[in-house]
Amino acid sequence: MKEKMNLINADAFDELKKIKSNSVDLILTDVPYNISNYSKTDVFIGNRKLNTKIAEWDENYFDPSLLVDDFKRILKPDGNIFVFTSYNQIGLWHKFFDKEFDTFQFMVWHKTNPTPCVYKKTFLNSCELIICLWNKGHKWNFISQEKMHNFIETPICEYPERLTNPKHPTQKPVSVLEHIIKIASNENDVVLDPFMGVGSTGIACKNLKRNFIGIEINKEYFKAAKKRIL
Ligand SMILES: C[S@@+](CC[C@H](N)C(=O)[O-])C[C@H]1O[C@@H](n2cnc3c(N)ncnc32)[C@H](O)[C@@H]1O
Repeated sequence: MKEKMNLINADAFDELKKIKSNSVDLILTDVPYNISNYSKTDVFIGNRKLNTKIAEWDENYFDPSLLVDDFKRILKPDGNIFVFTSYNQIGLWHKFFDKEFDTFQFMVWHKTNPTPCVYKKTFLNSCELIICLWNKGHKWNFISQEKMHNFIETPICEYPERLTNPKHPTQKPVSVLEHIIKIASNENDVVLDPFMGVGSTGIACKNLKRNFIGIEINKEYFKAAKKRIL
């Protein structure tokens, strides 16, 4: 059976309301992080500007509590949720989601080639947090003790995988998404990414024979996702 790819160019907060209850096996998404407001200072290496704000879309306040009801309603009882988030938002996710699910854990994605730390006064920003949520009886493809650490290490998304036009500042490597999808879903399952950017989760689903629903508000990113996935 060929997997179904349903791509929607719209606001996720509206579209989630239209998704059928108990219809999604895995919600795997990478939401805005709201860290632009913490990194407005430009950093220069010679004339080259580094480490400025991430993107316009990251400046609007992102409220995880607005997703609780829809995520709970559309997820199947044996489904899983994985969300990339940031240090400043993880407390909010815990506050609103922990009480709604049996388990709240986190994974760390360690990037082996992060942006260098120019002034050498802080750590390199080499880790991303991924929160993981499920209820008892959830689908779980345990690989082996060695491969089930809540830690994954890869380089950041680089050329030729990394798109140059449009360039998405937070494009995720497909290998990281595939690792999660293999553990938390099965072939022919439905995976949802309501903040899909340039569609990396969709590519991972296509490679692994999962059906995919992807939502993205930005027209350019959506066009790029469609071109990559369909
Ligand atoms: C962190 S990025 C996701 C990047 C993605 N993982 C990839 O590999 O391309 C978050 C995305 O959410 C989109 N976004 C922000 N608000 C949205 C909304 N209300 N509805 C749908 N998409 C939204 C942004 O345009 C951005 O592309």
